[in-house]
Amino acid sequence: MIEIKIKNKLEMTKLATKIALLAKKGDVIGLNGTLGAGKSFFASAFINSLLDQKISVTSPTFNLLYTYSTKTAEIYHFDLYRLKKEEELYNIGIEDSIINGISLIEWPHLAKNLITKNFLDIEIKIDGEQERIITLKPDITWNNRLLNYEISNLA
Ligand SMILES: Nc1ncnc2c1ncn2[C@@H]1O[C@H](COP(=O)(O)OP(=O)(O)O)[C@@H](O)[C@H]1O
Ligand SMILES: [Mg+2]
Repeated sequence: MIEIKIKNKLEMTKLATKIALLAKKGDVIGLNGTLGAGKSFFASAFINSLLDQKISVTSPTFNLLYTYSTKTAEIYHFDLYRLKKEEELYNIGIEDSIINGISLIEWPHLAKNLITKNFLDIEIKIDGEQERIITLKPDITWNNRLLNYEISNLA
């Protein structure tokens, strides 16, 4: 587990950009935290860091999924907040997304059984108007990637 204290939105953007640089096809990044914590903000910064032309990333709260083509891979941005049962996941093709691209999943709890590898779970806690406490919970593959990489240096 790695804990990072974020002071403002710029630092959040830097963290998302650093993580995006390490990401590759087949990765799953879980985004946990209360409403307004910054899960969609993180996803937007992550996606935009991989695009030449900046875009506005809409939260997939109602559509469950939006897809973006980037130079690194297809990005599948999920928000599972409205899902009630694990079975509902099969209708949205989440297993194929996990194989074919990089999946950013807000409220990933229901999908945990389907996520077997290349998983970086992230928790965002509100600690002030712009302050956030980020906890990175990497699996073994992400742990190796984060090792020797100064992830918490956001200067
Ligand atoms: N350090 C920060 N990181 C991310 N968002 C922040 C930060 N400080 C303030 N915010 C604001 O908090 C809100 C987060 O909203 P959003 O990303 O939609 O949350 P969530 O997807 O977790 O519900 C945005 O209005 C954003 O501008
Ligand atoms: Mg959101």
